Order: sequence, then structure tokens, then C-alpha cells
Amino acid sequence: MFDSATLNRAAHVIRTVNPRLPADAALRQELAANRNLSAAARSAVSRAVFSYYRWLSWLREADSLQSRLDDALTRQRQFETSPQSVKVEALAARAVPPWLAEEVVFPGESLLQLQKEPRLWIRARPGTRDSLSSELKDATPPDGATPLLQFFSTKGDALRFFGTRDLFSTDGFKTGKFEIQDLASQWVGHACAPQPGQVWWDACAGEGGKSLHLADQMDNKGVLWASDRSERRLEQLKRRFARAQLFNVRVATWEGATSLPTKTKFDGVLVDAPCSGVGTWQRNPHARWTTTLADVQELAGVQTRMLDSVAASLKSGGRLVYAVCTLTRSETTAVADQFTQTHPEFTPTPIFPGVVDDTQQTLWPHELEANGMFLAAWTKK
Ligand SMILES: C[S@@+](CC[C@H](N)C(=O)[O-])C[C@H]1O[C@@H](n2cnc3c(N)ncnc32)[C@H](O)[C@@H]1O
Repeated sequence: MFDSATLNRAAHVIRTVNPRLPADAALRQELAANRNLSAAARSAVSRAVFSYYRWLSWLREADSLQSRLDDALTRQRQFETSPQSVKVEALAARAVPPWLAEEVVFPGESLLQLQKEPRLWIRARPGTRDSLSSELKDATPPDGATPLLQFFSTKGDALRFFGTRDLFSTDGFKTGKFEIQDLASQWVGHACAPQPGQVWWDACAGEGGKSLHLADQMDNKGVLWASDRSERRLEQLKRRFARAQLFNVRVATWEGATSLPTKTKFDGVLVDAPCSGVGTWQRNPHARWTTTLADVQELAGVQTRMLDSVAASLKSGGRLVYAVCTLTRSETTAVADQFTQTHPEFTPTPIFPGVVDDTQQTLWPHELEANGMFLAAWTKK
């Protein structure tokens, strides 16, 4: 399965990783330079690189890079066949960095989840899930017993893709029939629940993953403001909106400060804030070894300032949703609790009545076999 060309390429990627070039960026660079590789070959290189970082602290420094890669891939294969073969205590000690204990206590099932290869999730355009599933073939809705999984099984637009085709080159993708979007990210869109005709603001819109979902729920009616500090990301957002034929978006740069991109008052604001990304450590295991406690503390300050800044832009009765793909106490409950204490004009409100009635939710990676995520919601009085 992992031929020598794949292993050589993966080793090359790992050698190019440095403090300014994390593994996911190094991998993108390598794959961009080798556009002739088949989808299966690209996937194999990615899997080899990420397996290496998932099992990094089990590997012997004295071994050659080639032997360490072999060792990591063997461990990954054995783990996928028999996850219980690795003790949860060993994962707590070696699969995550020591500083994390101060900030997160992972449930055992989530530690197991972190070591697995991640699922690939798709979001079909509203009402098209069944036809898309037949068209793509290797794609099925999620199933399961929790209220959240039942929601996705009956009401959402999510499909799990288990094929090997390059989805980006399919006609369906090129014509905007679906987006590749992690299931936890899809949940954030549902938790916002914008209505057609409303005015919403996706304050940290990035390349627009969640903005597209909000616009779809608004049925292309009303206005969605999408801002980010990165113009490059916003350019990509515009391309994605054009592909999806969604036109109810206004794009603006915003640095996260008190000066807002517009004086508009919103029915809803999503702050999908920059964060340490601990919830993405299954998909991006190299980040386990580069993220620090200082990053967490700095980002908690950024998140608090962003929530403070957007608060005045909500209409009375408006909905504010805070989301971060991380699980550290400082960036999740501490930020949300502080906002509740310092903004008496906001009342904490259920994440999604009838499915998650709590006003804060920690979504662990094993719960949806997706990214870990934290959400909090408020209504303005
Ligand atoms: C979690 S990502 C957003 C992902 C996006 N919502 C999506 O679903 O694709 C956080 C975003 O915040 C942006 N960001 C970081 N620092 C910022 C700041 N100080 N002000 C505004 N945006 C910022 C980053 O450029 C990044 O796109």
C-alpha cells in the first residue's frame, strides 16, 4: 500500500518541515509541485506524513527517518485494526504534549479517536443529499444513537465519503453541488440557524466554510456579512460563493478590533474565532508538537476581545454564537463565562433547542468522528 515512492515523498515532506513551515503546509507544497500524482498516491503521501506525527513520541530518534516512517505506519495499521491494543494511559502520556494536562482532560474515547485516520465529511446543498449520495456512490449519511447523530442522520445534509476518488476534480464539486466540510463545522452552522431574509455576520469567515452553510440556510435571501483579517482568504471565499451560486454575501476585512466593518445591526453573529486548534489534532497531528500554552493564553485574549467588539452590533433579540475548534479551558468555558459575566445585556441560550439544550457545548472528537469543537450561544436582551 505504501510503496517506496510514497515513502520517499513523505520523508521529503518531513525533512522540509521547519518552524515556519508546518507539516500540512509542507505537504500542500509537495503535492502542488507534483500535480501529476494520482488521487490515491496523494492520499498515501498525506497518510504517511500524518501517521508519522501521530506516533512521533513512540519513534526512536536514533533510527533513520525511513525506519521511523515504517514504524509509524505499522503502528497506525495495527491501531486501526485493534484500537484497544494501545492503552489509554499510554495515549494520555504520549499522543499529546505534557502541557495539555493543565488545559484539557481528554475522555479516553477521544484519545483513541485522535490516533485514528480522520473521516472525510461532505455537506450536500440543501435537499440534495440523497441524489448526491447516489451520484457519488461511496457516500452515506451518518448514523448513531446520540441525539446529535440522529439529527445528522435525519435532518442534516452531511455525507461521509469513504471512497478514494479526488472529490475536487468531480463535476459535482466544480458546479457547487457540495462542499467538503468537517461534521463538527457543519454543526456550528446548524447551531446558528439563520433564517431566510435575516441579516447575519460571520465575523471570522476565513475561506467561507461556515459562511456558505449560513448562506445556504438563508436560502440566498437576506444579507450575510463575511469578514476576516486575511484578504487572501476572503478572495477564496468569493470564489467559493460564485461556484455555489450564492449571492447574498457582503465581504469586508476586519481585524477583530472595536472598529467594525459596518454600522449594520444584526439578527445574528457567528464568531468562529482563531484558536489553538486542539480539536483538529486528529486531522493535523503535527500541531500537537508546535502549539504551546503561551499560544493558548494569547488566543484566549484575542477571542475575548472579539466577542466584546461584536456585542454592540447585535439587535435586541439577536443571536450570538461563539465557536472554536479547540478544547482548552482557557479558550472555551473561560472565554464564554467571562463574556456572560461582563455582558449582562446577553442571556445564555440553548445551542440547538431539542438537540442540545445546554448553552455551552464541548463536542469531543469521538462524538461525531470529527473535529473537537466548543460552542456557546447567547440572545441579546
Ligand atoms: C477558525 S478560522 C475561521 C474558519 C472559517 N470560519 C471557516 O469555517 O472556514 C479563524 C479565522 O480568523 C481569522 N483571524 C485571525 N485573527 C484575526 C483577527 N485578529 N481579526 C480577524 N480575523 C482574524 C483568521 O484569518 C481565520 O480565517
